[in-house]
Amino acid sequence: MARPGLPSLAAFMSLCLLVLAVVEPHKAYGSSSRGWFNIGRNKGAPAASAAAVNGICASSVTIYGYKCEEHEVKTQDGYILNMQRIPEGRAGGTTRSENKRQPVLIQHGVLVDGMTWLLNSPEQNLPMILADKGFDVWIANTRGTRFCKKHVSLDPHDPEFWNWSWDELVSYDLPAVFDFVYSQTGQKIHYIGHSLGTLIGLASFSEGHQVDVLKSAAFLSPIAYLSHMNTALGAVAARAFVGEITTLFGVAEFNPKGRDVSNFLKALCNYPGVDCYDLLTALTGKNCCLNSSTVDLFIRNEPQSTSTKNMVHLAQTVRDGVIAKYNYGRPDYNLMHYGETKPPIYNISNIPNDLPLFISYGGQDALSDVRDVQLLLDHLKFHDVDKLTIQYIKDYAHADFIMGINAKDIVYNKVVQFFKHQQ
Ligand SMILES: *[C@@H]1O[C@H](CO)[C@@H](O)[C@H](O)[C@H]1NC(C)=O
Ligand SMILES: *[C@@H]1O[C@H](CO)[C@@H](O)[C@H](O)[C@H]1NC(C)=O
Ligand SMILES: *[C@@H]1O[C@H](CO)[C@@H](O)[C@H](O)[C@H]1NC(C)=O
Repeated sequence: MARPGLPSLAAFMSLCLLVLAVVEPHKAYGSSSRGWFNIGRNKGAPAASAAAVNGICASSVTIYGYKCEEHEVKTQDGYILNMQRIPEGRAGGTTRSENKRQPVLIQHGVLVDGMTWLLNSPEQNLPMILADKGFDVWIANTRGTRFCKKHVSLDPHDPEFWNWSWDELVSYDLPAVFDFVYSQTGQKIHYIGHSLGTLIGLASFSEGHQVDVLKSAAFLSPIAYLSHMNTALGAVAARAFVGEITTLFGVAEFNPKGRDVSNFLKALCNYPGVDCYDLLTALTGKNCCLNSSTVDLFIRNEPQSTSTKNMVHLAQTVRDGVIAKYNYGRPDYNLMHYGETKPPIYNISNIPNDLPLFISYGGQDALSDVRDVQLLLDHLKFHDVDKLTIQYIKDYAHADFIMGINAKDIVYNKVVQFFKHQQ
């Protein structure tokens, strides 16, 4: 078995902390919660248990009077993914009867699943707003998350089940969900990604995949270049202890589970001198506009599992400052997998210049640092000017884009406008 290359301490910790820490609410609305210490101890919470039994449609969509369909989609490498479809708005199918409803595919980030989009009220959450505006909404869930722990032959207890990184999300998950939505609707698709959902979209479209069935793409809190995360996190890593990292890698190499990461975090936060409240603000930036009730709901439902290999791959992206395939850590292993001693890069400049793109990023977002977004934009400098819409939101941090109480006015309406412009 190829041992994954050890990414730098800072990089790996950054990722662990960041991805889990984005949920910490800023104190704007109600009391702040240290919720992620409770990970794994909330099995009895209403939304979580309802979802566990009935799925996302029943727990989070139909209760608000929307139609919702559960779908299963098989990837070429055998994973069975769960999707939700909200085919029309609450008022029914009449609002845009003159046109067929255009499909929108919504892709979440790492360590969460599609339910994160649905935690705010129907008036505030992205999928329902899109449905009400006349779109046919499809919510993707990536392999390894709660309702995607299925494979034609592998069991989640097998290490092989977790033997993938975001390369496989690019080569298998995205094609599977795109093909499925296209086969069901017969129409080109609008894509919306958040966080890792932006990275896999960018990587995929840069290789020319999916672009023939893609109408346009909106990237919220884009994660592509990640090198500026290091500076903010170096200080944290220096205060941490190396032993835990080694343990984490040891465990994760065989059977990585979200629980191990969370135990690691708890241990880290108990370490003398580490103040996790400070840490969170320092790492994620201040989310301006979260509702503490929504955040509580989030904590009951997330985080979801991913593979350690995926986390390592992300950490490599932080460390190396390039968007490349998974690095096996040794030239000979890379040669074996890629026929080259270094992993091949995803060249973002190869995204077709006439593909309509909408990019929205926040000034307080520590995970999607403005300098890294600038790097991304540099790679898009030859993009057709009239096909590139860029939005900068000074007060927004990473989680505001999914759960911000004012995201409808600030972001989602702009996305709707952008989509309607691409007729
Ligand atoms: C993981 O997949 C790689 C090929 O991508 C293979 O070389 C390796 O043996 C696999 N490891 C496990 C544990 O299945
Ligand atoms: C916060 O969420 C609660 C529960 O869903 C809701 O009653 C309240 O109106 C929300 N507050 C804001 C400011 O949206
Ligand atoms: C990426 O693609 C652009 C144009 O598509 C090309 O000019 C550039 O050299 C490529 N960069 C690399 C590193 O291959």
